[in-house]
Amino acid sequence: MPLQIVRNDITTMAVDAIVNAANETLLGGGGVDGAIHRAAGPALLRECRTLGGCRTGEAKLTKGYRLPARYVIHTVGPIWRDGRHGERDLLASAYRNSLELAAAHRCRTVAFPLISSGVYGYPKDQALQVAVDTVAGFLLSHEMTVYLVIYDRTAYDFGTRLFPDIAAYIDDRYVSAHTDLRAEQARRDLFTAPCAAAMPSAAPSLREAVSQLDESFSQMLLRKIDEAGMTDAQCYKKANIDRKLFSKIRSDVHYKPSKPTAMAFAVALELPLDEARDLLQKAGFAFSHASKFDIIVEYFIARGNYNIFEINEALFAFDQSLLGG
Ligand code: APR
Repeated sequence: MPLQIVRNDITTMAVDAIVNAANETLLGGGGVDGAIHRAAGPALLRECRTLGGCRTGEAKLTKGYRLPARYVIHTVGPIWRDGRHGERDLLASAYRNSLELAAAHRCRTVAFPLISSGVYGYPKDQALQVAVDTVAGFLLSHEMTVYLVIYDRTAYDFGTRLFPDIAAYIDDRYVSAHTDLRAEQARRDLFTAPCAAAMPSAAPSLREAVSQLDESFSQMLLRKIDEAGMTDAQCYKKANIDRKLFSKIRSDVHYKPSKPTAMAFAVALELPLDEARDLLQKAGFAFSHASKFDIIVEYFIARGNYNIFEINEALFAFDQSLLGG
């Protein structure tokens, strides 16, 4: 999965590079800067002293020393004022310059903290949005796995505060231990709702329908990619799937993907709910209101929002697996 949102302590991550949210002196500080220096040991500060500081939005690289990561990329995010002093552009360039530097050092795995979202006061939900948008844009043209590291639950107030409408949508449908007829009725309503009825799902001819019956997941996926006029790479990148996994699916007609992978392709192909359900069935899964994961994905598809990174932010907020593979 090229872009992952994870809950972790960045100083423990054995990746090619971790990114430090530093200040322009590069001489250490509190927050994640302090944690990285403590974990790396004094040699890190000695090397930082030779760098002559770093301007906001730029990035410089050092070794990782005692850290499990090979490198530390020091970048400086903007101090939040009011959002009208170029903060967003500066934050985006901090991510972009860090990624360019990582690529220049042939890093395959990079972990970022939420830059500027602590001491520098950048509103956390906007800080995450800038991070996701910038990294996702970079990954369209680079092969790399990038982790956005959320340090702890309090560090990032997710769930009902950030996504109150999704929380309400889940409450209305989430099937508890027993089947809730109201929820099942709501599910049926969803499929008969005007948006569902208006979904473009041209009924295949009988011959097509019969031929599609014994289509495997892989065959249906490749057919849908052609029908959508997409290239393979466009589809798997949009699905947050790495090239290796896609070529496995492409070369093995009987390949059975995980549910997050199958769902990710349904989202990347922007399938309406009924066609998404068909694709899922080919992988041996079904949408279920006994699963918050399914309900959240259904929420976005029913609203025609196929931005997989926005969906993953919501899935992460509700402690669910992320879409991709
Ligand atoms: N692992 C991952 N993330 C962490 C860790 C950790 N060990 N410790 C803190 N964080 C998170 C915080 O929860 C926050 O979401 O890093 C994010 C960035 O917060 P800060 O470290 O405060 O960085 P920033 O807001 O960019 O402010 C930079 O703070 O530490 C000083 O020297 C630094 O002056 C600079 C300023």
